[in-house]
Amino acid sequence: MNLQRLDKIISSQLNISRKLARNDIHRGRVTVDGVTVRDTAFQVCADSAVIEYDGQAVSYKKFLYLVLNKPKGVLSASNDKTRQTVVDLVPEPLRRPDLAPVGRLDRDTTGLLLITDDGAFAHKIISPKSGIFKKYRVLLDGSLTKETAEAFEKGITLTDGTQCLPARLEILGESEAEVEICEGKYHQIKRMFGTVGLGVNELCRIKIGGLALPEDLPVGFCRELTAEELENIVKIT
Ligand code: URA
Repeated sequence: MNLQRLDKIISSQLNISRKLARNDIHRGRVTVDGVTVRDTAFQVCADSAVIEYDGQAVSYKKFLYLVLNKPKGVLSASNDKTRQTVVDLVPEPLRRPDLAPVGRLDRDTTGLLLITDDGAFAHKIISPKSGIFKKYRVLLDGSLTKETAEAFEKGITLTDGTQCLPARLEILGESEAEVEICEGKYHQIKRMFGTVGLGVNELCRIKIGGLALPEDLPVGFCRELTAEELENIVKIT
């Protein structure tokens, strides 16, 4: 049974401070299974109790899993003193204290970014050991060749000697391709193309595992993942 203190549940699910949650509980704004509870330490079964705040149901979610269509110019971080971060794009009702991006996209990279407060999940998605491929659409400043695809397939050695795992490169046009990698080294795709003399003009992540960037999610917008989408992420592609 998932027993938790009432003030902890109210504070985490409504994204308010523990102090404010306690005040609200004392003032009788919270009911559990239809009964007003003023004891802030009251133990509640978070998965089954019906909790209401000012008569509105508080749905308990241990973790939150969000998908963002990242715009250019936004930092992949939880907070920053001066620059806008991806977590700043999370709408107020979905805000939680520990939300963080799952891995990083460069500031000028766009597309699919997951945001969650489930650290173990994030680690699993990022870890190369999980074999979850991330797919990117790339526009380059030069011409692609069959040899580039072959080199990617063998595993590129970066200029500093770092060895990359085998990657998949599908050539879509003279300077356009889709690339899949299952690791996330610093600026990896840009550096991989750099080794064959190509610069990256545009980079957009379009897929993580079996989850494609939702077509109806406008750039800069963020929403909760459905249970099905969440399952799709870890499907090996
Ligand atoms: N590779 C890069 O070079 N940049 C990104 O943002 C993601 C992968």
